[in-house]
Formats: sequence, C-alpha cells, structure tokens
Amino acid sequence: GSTRYEAESASLSTGGTIDANHAGFSGTGFANGANAVGSYVEWQVNGPASALAFGYANGTAAARPVDISVDGTVVATGVPFPATGAWTTWSTVTQPVNLAAGTHTVRLTATTADGPANLDYVDVSG
Ligand code: GCU
Repeated sequence: GSTRYEAESASLSTGGTIDANHAGFSGTGFANGANAVGSYVEWQVNGPASALAFGYANGTAAARPVDISVDGTVVATGVPFPATGAWTTWSTVTQPVNLAAGTHTVRLTATTADGPANLDYVDVSG
C-alpha cells in the first residue's frame, strides 16, 4: 500500500498557490509553484519508504525539471517532469528513495525559470 500526501498540505515557497482551476486532480486542489528557479513544494511524510510517486500536470511543451531533496540532502538532480499535453492531463513521476521510519521532509525545487509542474500529491510506498 501507499500513503498519499496532498499538495494542499504542502509548504510552498513565495508566490506559490493552491489552485483548483484544472480538473482531474486528487483532493481539493494542486500546488502551482511560482515560475522561478528555486521555487519549491515541500511535504512532511512518514517512512519507511522506498518510492515517492508525484502526481503532476505540465501543459507546456517543455519538461519542468526539479531537484528532489530528503531532509535537506539532494537525492536526485534535474528530474524531468515531462509535458503531459494539457494542464488537465495528470501523470506521475516516481523517484526511488531510502527513507527510514519516522518523519521526513521531501522538497521539489525547480531548476529552471519555468518553476515546477503543477503538483497534485506524493504517494509514499514501500
Ligand atoms: C498556466 C496554468 C497554471 C500553470 C502555469 C505555469 O498559467 O494555468 O496552472 O501553473 O501556466 O506555466 O506554471
């Protein structure tokens, strides 16, 4: 099984908003991170876990890469969140991790001026 943490309960860097204007999301909305390098979305999640699956949409033609950090340490750089074809078309990107039992901080930080994709949730499993 897995545990879902909605973007509605995430922390966003300055300029990020929780929106609900593109249908198909889980829960009551999604995180629209600011369009800037360094823009982030951060969740508190519980381990143990071996995978993080991020629900997202990217209605542009270009991937929206992020660095993924756990407890302040970058565990994956420039992870692409590819175009999904429309802001209402949702997909997932999965990142393997090694989370011990207990609480962890997971942050996605945009590495381009476009900011992150619209982020819906993270499913924590394994
Ligand atoms: C559009 C879209 C937003 C999205 C933004 C972006 O404005 O409606 O949901 O976040 O593009 O490019 O990041």
